[in-house]
Amino acid sequence: MTSKSWKVYNPSGKRRVVVTKELPGNRWLKILAEADARVEYGTETRILRVSEIKAAIGDRCDGAIGQLTENWGNTLFVALRKAGGTAYSNYAVGYNNVDIDAATKIGIPVGNTPGVLTETTAEMAVALTFAAARRVPEADVYMRGGNYEGWLPTLFLGELLCRKTVGVVGAGAIGTAYAKMMVEGLKMDFIYYDIHQNRGLETYLREYSRFLKTQGEAPVKVTRATTVEELLENAPLTSHPKPGRQPVPKAFYAAPADASSEDSWSLACAISRPKTI
Ligand SMILES: NC(=O)c1ccc[n+]([C@@H]2O[C@H](COP(=O)([O-])OP(=O)(O)OC[C@H]3O[C@@H](n4cnc5c(N)ncnc54)[C@H](O)[C@@H]3O)[C@@H](O)[C@H]2O)c1
Repeated sequence: MTSKSWKVYNPSGKRRVVVTKELPGNRWLKILAEADARVEYGTETRILRVSEIKAAIGDRCDGAIGQLTENWGNTLFVALRKAGGTAYSNYAVGYNNVDIDAATKIGIPVGNTPGVLTETTAEMAVALTFAAARRVPEADVYMRGGNYEGWLPTLFLGELLCRKTVGVVGAGAIGTAYAKMMVEGLKMDFIYYDIHQNRGLETYLREYSRFLKTQGEAPVKVTRATTVEELLENAPLTSHPKPGRQPVPKAFYAAPADASSEDSWSLACAISRPKTI
């Protein structure tokens, strides 16, 4: 990595802060500059190795902001401490990439960013839900491949989501926001699996269901599943009986905050496993 991979903002700042990736906008730069920080931020698009971040910390660094793609463990916290660092912040709500025990032992407080992207992430889940149900990526490849010859009643038929069932695993902040978007937007029945009961969400959706009845519309069902299997039974996954066709998922999930990426991946695989109905 060359010195060109790092940019400097407010070079005369008394404190030195290393930010491993350039962040969106410029408010973060202004806030750090107001705190008299010289900000050195990485411009590499690939994920940095621990050795590269350690080199960037160098022998004087008051604080660092890192990414969830980086391994913030003992090596980096020792390096940060030796360089005079007093704080590390993870640019994410999740912190599976941070060894909290190591940071605590070394005496470096760790921050994260809960709450700021809840609606954004829920909207992304809604986007993926529609893309999967309406077979948007498949149809896009087909169109760009020059295969379209004219509209057909069966061409990329997809799934109607309205009044179907939506399933959520992990009805925390994102799961709740996503559930409200799907249930209020599409009047879907809702089933969720979570180790904690989300009474607030249940009450909210039941009130919405009552409202629908007052409007002469059918109510929506709200169910807490006792197992993931029960959720999958009630929000079945696929609908395309033709061999070779991609399954169309009808259940989507928000991973719990303490789930590792491996857990999330296993769950995603389980959920997307083809099952004909
Ligand atoms: N909120 C954000 O800004 C954001 C942005 C991008 C990605 N993410 C990721 O999305 C995930 C969810 O974020 P969130 O803000 O909704 O977190 P959250 O802590 O509010 O919700 C997580 C939910 O998962 C439940 N849960 C925990 N362990 C479980 C288990 N074993 N089985 C079933 N449920 C379990 C918890 O009870 C909780 O309701 C996290 O992995 C997070 O890193 C969050």
